[in-house]
Amino acid sequence: MTDLVTDPIYKTDALIAEDIDAYLDVHQHKTMLRFITCGSVDDGKSTLIGRLLYDSKMIFEDQLEALQADSKRVGTQGQEIDFALLVDGLAAEREQGITIDVAYRFFTTEKRKFIVADTPGHEQYTRNMVTGASTADLAVILIDARKGVLVQTRRHSYLAHLIGIKNIVLAINKMDLVDYDQSVYDAILKDYTAFAHSIGITSFTPIPISGFKGDNITAHSEHTPWYTGPTLMAHLETVEVDQVSDQEKPLRMAVQWVNRPNLDFRGFSGQIAAGVVRVGDAVRVLPSGKTSTVSRIVTLDGDLEQAVAGQSVTLCFADEVDCSRGDVIAASDSPPQVADQFETTIVWMADEEMLPGRAYWLKIGTQTVSATVQQPKYQINVNTMEQLAAKTLDLNAIGVANLSTDRQIVFEPYAQNRTLGGFILIDKITNATVAAGMLHFSLRRAQNVHWQATDVSREHHALMKHQKPAVLWFTGLSGAGKSTIANLVEKRLARMNRHTFLLDGDNVRHGLNKDLGFTDADRVENIRRVGEVAKLMTDAGLIVITAFISPFRSEREMVRQMMQPGEFIEVHIDTPLADAEARDVKGLYKKARSGQLKNFTGIDSPYEAPLDPEIRIDTAGMTPDEAADAIVARLIP
Ligand code: ADX
Repeated sequence: MTDLVTDPIYKTDALIAEDIDAYLDVHQHKTMLRFITCGSVDDGKSTLIGRLLYDSKMIFEDQLEALQADSKRVGTQGQEIDFALLVDGLAAEREQGITIDVAYRFFTTEKRKFIVADTPGHEQYTRNMVTGASTADLAVILIDARKGVLVQTRRHSYLAHLIGIKNIVLAINKMDLVDYDQSVYDAILKDYTAFAHSIGITSFTPIPISGFKGDNITAHSEHTPWYTGPTLMAHLETVEVDQVSDQEKPLRMAVQWVNRPNLDFRGFSGQIAAGVVRVGDAVRVLPSGKTSTVSRIVTLDGDLEQAVAGQSVTLCFADEVDCSRGDVIAASDSPPQVADQFETTIVWMADEEMLPGRAYWLKIGTQTVSATVQQPKYQINVNTMEQLAAKTLDLNAIGVANLSTDRQIVFEPYAQNRTLGGFILIDKITNATVAAGMLHFSLRRAQNVHWQATDVSREHHALMKHQKPAVLWFTGLSGAGKSTIANLVEKRLARMNRHTFLLDGDNVRHGLNKDLGFTDADRVENIRRVGEVAKLMTDAGLIVITAFISPFRSEREMVRQMMQPGEFIEVHIDTPLADAEARDVKGLYKKARSGQLKNFTGIDSPYEAPLDPEIRIDTAGMTPDEAADAIVARLIP
């Protein structure tokens, strides 16, 4: 069956025998429709897909029967498919053995080529459906005529709409089992219409079918004389796909790479996401905003006078304009926006919950930036569309949250442009794709808050103190000796007339971070705030010493990135858990072991030791005074 799908059978086509060139020509110029089927096995999803493949002569009768008998999913991972961003990320994961299961199948008819993404229908597969839908032009929502609109119908419709699929087919299936009764069909249609309008779906195409019997799949069924709309296949073959309307939008091309084979040629390569570009057109490069005109449109098959959405080209400019990978080339008179704070919808796809405040990689178009998500405004119950309060997002959860990036990105609202409005989030440590998201709009506050230049610079502050600012970032288990050693280090530095400040976990949690507990999310926020404070203090020219467990590599890395190169000195106070527990100065390990204290580091909350700290202190091998001497010697040689 696998071969069957990856090796489509064109042989049946008589044209091939007669005129292979003519055949290939027709075939090459066929448009492509990507669609997704939504429903569960019980709705007859596999049967319907089998029926479409069968009717388009992609499989044979005995195989269709086998498919109907064994209504399990079949298919192949579509490696040959031109994956969109999300699928790219997931393909990379697949190589690492993490699988999000979406089966892609390919088939073709006289009129069109099709790629159908088949994803499981249950709620725990929300991320699979989002993955499959992210590249789809159309969604077929299957309903069992005997059951009508179900919770899952609502969920699938909501997700399809959320992902921005404009063409929705409501396939009311198993009509044979309700005697092709028009009143059943009408009642379902009425129900669904009311629901669809409530979530913003303005139009859809309802079709009464039987995947099993073949009614209204390729030919109008004699059993439904009351139905006058198109058959499913006719609709799939003729529905207008986005590629056409994309050309009517203003030009957008994300630069994939700069093509500079020699000093005489400099071109910018990428796929045109929207619009049309002609030689002589005025264009603008974002985020810089610099303008030029297009001097050449180069392709492997020679130069073009114009190119349209969907084509991959290299553009040359009349002027020497700065433009690099990640930039966006746009129509000069209607450029996309540039911002660094947004409201977004996020679909969480990782087993580990989202951590507000943690820095993730965000990929959008060809841009990659660092981004943090705030606590969600709300989470959406995908079955009822209710908005629920949420502190985080778990696997398959969908929520609305503000997000900020560490630098300006070029974007458009997702509703206008999927390429420049859709993003994925990637864990910086594991490289796993943890979320897919959609940008709604930029926050006005981002446009109205500017960086204020001050005249007494950070260099000036440091100069007045006759020292180089630094952060000695202590990390280690509770009771490892961080505070003790940090205190000794500060005393030594004070004796040397250095200007220092010690930020200690227990103390900061009495004031600035009074509102935070010890969940993963709170610890992330704790370290984020301490990092920002430490940064301000280095700007003031201080040597900052911090003593926090800071259990996660991700946040320690985030703080390192906030500082100037060489300023962040990670000090691992490396005390084995057994030793810290044996000392148990505050009696907290005892409480944690007896279950009175939850989320205790090293017991039921993780500690991620630094892999390559600047300084490692083995407390079993030296006294606190020796440790302090070693650290000061490293800081001030
Ligand atoms: S961190 O994980 O967010 O970096 P932080 O260093 O601020 O932690 O605070 C740790 C101190 O809080 C510990 O030294 C201990 O005295 C106290 N504490 C109370 N509850 C916990 C807990 N569940 N896990 C770890 N430390 C705790």
